[in-house]
Amino acid sequence: MKTITQILTQIVSDAFEECGYERTLGTVFVSDRMDLCQFQCNGSFQAAKLHKKAPFIIAEEIKNVIEKNPAFLKVEVAKPGFINMTMTDGYLIELLGKIISDEHLGIPQNEKNETIVIDYGGPNVAKPLHIGHLRSAIIGESLKRLARECGYNVISDVHLGDWGLQIGLVIAELEERNPDWTCFSPDFADGEVPELNADMLNEIYPFASQKSKTDEVFKEKAHQATFELQSGRPGYIAVWKEILRVSIADLKENYSKLDVDFDLWYGESDADKYIDELVQILTDKKLLHESEGAMVVDVELETDKAPMPPVIIKKSDNSSIYATTDLATIIQRNRDFSPQKIWYVVDKRQDLHFTQVFRCAKKAELVPEDTELELLGFGTMNGSDGKPYKTRDGGVMKLSDLIETVTNAAAEKLRSSEFVSEQDHEEIAKRVGIAAVKFGDLINHRSKDYIFDIDKFLSFEGKTGTYLLYTITRINSIIRKTNSEDTDIKVDMLYTDAERELILSILLTGDVFRHAIDEKAPNYICDNAYKLAAVFSKFYHDNHILGETDENKKRNWISLIAFTRKLILKHLDILAIEPVENM
Ligand code: ARG
Repeated sequence: MKTITQILTQIVSDAFEECGYERTLGTVFVSDRMDLCQFQCNGSFQAAKLHKKAPFIIAEEIKNVIEKNPAFLKVEVAKPGFINMTMTDGYLIELLGKIISDEHLGIPQNEKNETIVIDYGGPNVAKPLHIGHLRSAIIGESLKRLARECGYNVISDVHLGDWGLQIGLVIAELEERNPDWTCFSPDFADGEVPELNADMLNEIYPFASQKSKTDEVFKEKAHQATFELQSGRPGYIAVWKEILRVSIADLKENYSKLDVDFDLWYGESDADKYIDELVQILTDKKLLHESEGAMVVDVELETDKAPMPPVIIKKSDNSSIYATTDLATIIQRNRDFSPQKIWYVVDKRQDLHFTQVFRCAKKAELVPEDTELELLGFGTMNGSDGKPYKTRDGGVMKLSDLIETVTNAAAEKLRSSEFVSEQDHEEIAKRVGIAAVKFGDLINHRSKDYIFDIDKFLSFEGKTGTYLLYTITRINSIIRKTNSEDTDIKVDMLYTDAERELILSILLTGDVFRHAIDEKAPNYICDNAYKLAAVFSKFYHDNHILGETDENKKRNWISLIAFTRKLILKHLDILAIEPVENM
């Protein structure tokens, strides 16, 4: 369905047209002074310039037309030409009824059936999942859910880093430790590989990485192993498959703790089979040329202010790099899904890489010209010192350790709650902790850096995940006390100001979603969830639902809070935050 400002814009645009002005001037906004009016239109100013008339006169003309519409309680012209509008309660209730019965809860739907591929997560196989990958997972998951909720067909791909030097390092180290393994014999064709496990990988990668920094011979071995793996040496492919098996199982377990999941578990290695084709296309289009031994494509534009180096497709030893696999992956995605958009949720410091890749992809026509290729870059999560978050001993924190830390902090906080039973304590603490971390992240625009502050994130007040989960439990408890859990949600009367404010916040939610999806920014969803919760609190404070003796009033109020709960839960679901029944 249309959002409330879209509906009003249509009415006011009709009026502009009827009075002989351009329709496009009828855009209606929500007012930032709710005490004066609910909605505003400023089109008279532009009309005044175009038609050489006073804005005030034009505004009056529009007012005279729209006033006849019974949906408006009040239309006023404020000097020098603002049109201020307030709707009748009956109209607000009518719209609310439509939203209540809408299967999408009033969230506007993409009607073109467009497809989006979202690339997020991006963990590197054989390396432990760390905080750097946390933001990508959290933001990407919520963008995926947001886009789905807005009617897009969305495919999520984790795009594993599974083809790079980190694998070569692990293979080289395994070979040094276990020279007798048959897979390391040069004539290995196929057969069993000894079983590995996550603890082994967690130990071996940092060890090998450190060793390569001081041991030149080992470093060369790791490069050689990477090269031979990529050239298809059977024994290395067999160990690599075992590394992938263990690593993916571990990743899936970690992601599931965060409620993050992917449709596709493709990796950089899956792009390998498209690389020859990529090179062929670039050659045919005469885009590829040699530079210092490497094969590159120029992507510089005349308008560039900063230097834009060419993108390297093949290094001098004929090996592929990060850009090569990303370009080849674009061929695969376009072929498999013909998406209208491909979004990459990656650290914004990779901006140059993606600019090069996107320009090259467009130049080579790997996708149609109007396919949107966009980096949704994010900032860093910092510690209280303003530097990227580290463990106490200065190391990079593993994601599993972070989850443990926040769960413990939440458990401590909930210790005194009479509503949390001993047996539920652990599960509730986990959900509250994860909600705190996710909301603390998503409330910031994704491109911003932010400070990880668990005490602030766990606060029961302000814009926090804890406050939202708590609000849900309050509504649960009220509804439980009135024994109306299964009653139909139906609002047919509006009695008080706080109620009107709550209804308006619900009606404006569709516009918030429109904004959030247009800007690909889940922080609007966070803000709106908070707003709904805060307005609910005010409503509940002003209206004593439990003690209300007027049955009709009470039924309306219960319906209203039941729907508010449904809508807040929808927001939380988009943020991939799980609610709790009590806390
Ligand atoms: N594995 C990469 C990293 O850890 C992120 C991958 C992002 N996605 C992509 N298509 N390049 O930095």
